[in-house]
Amino acid sequence: MEIIVAKDYAEMSRKAADVIAACLKENPATRLGLATGSTPEGLYACLVKDYQAGLLDFSQASSFNLDEYRGLAHDHDQSYHYFMKKNLFDAVNIDPANTAVPDGANPDAQAACDEYEAAIEAAGGVDIQLLGMGHNGHIGFNEPADEFPKQTHCVDLTESTISANSRLFDSAEEVPRQAYTMGIGTIMKAKKILVVANGTAKAAIVRDAFTGAVTPSVPASILQFHPDVTVVLDADAASLLA
Ligand code: GLP
Repeated sequence: MEIIVAKDYAEMSRKAADVIAACLKENPATRLGLATGSTPEGLYACLVKDYQAGLLDFSQASSFNLDEYRGLAHDHDQSYHYFMKKNLFDAVNIDPANTAVPDGANPDAQAACDEYEAAIEAAGGVDIQLLGMGHNGHIGFNEPADEFPKQTHCVDLTESTISANSRLFDSAEEVPRQAYTMGIGTIMKAKKILVVANGTAKAAIVRDAFTGAVTPSVPASILQFHPDVTVVLDADAASLLA
């Protein structure tokens, strides 16, 4: 695991974007694994800037997103479909037909999740998976649990996640209670993993996930067992690392 400490959010975003840009330059048909949340917004802005400057080409790239709220229409402004269109897909030349996000609008959870897992497999897997981290160490929407979920599945969100994400909705009541997410097994199959975290509120979970015990009660800790992980932090998120 390589841990890069940037001085601030802007530098974290640039350095992390450079990791993805390097993959795309080496292999224009890179299969990207993408993430939502506030943390990667700056990274996406850097990729869009690179594209606009003619430095990046997404025409052959494809993508699979980590997760989606169950029950939100694709055009709901808090859906991850909407987030990705706004922050990346509509601003670069990726073919929309080559972008995939779990279908939160499909009420049949089993079918939606099985189809998503099969689509990732059929595509040949993810080349580089971007991850943010929840305050409780969740990745995608894999919440702390007794075991590491293997495949794309439907999860009940924890109160801590509902409350953290309620800032983006009009009220906590409006936050969906369930989500479809790649499993930990799905994530661990990616060839390369890139984690971003910023801010003092993430410092304790960064320390626990990357220097503590590997345990499903801190889902991100499993990344210690992945052979190719790059973690890009700002100084605040890195502040409790020895
Ligand atoms: C959500 C997403 C995660 C994300 C997490 C942290 O719950 N499902 O993929 O990593 O939020 O979000 P933020 O970056 O806003 O702290």
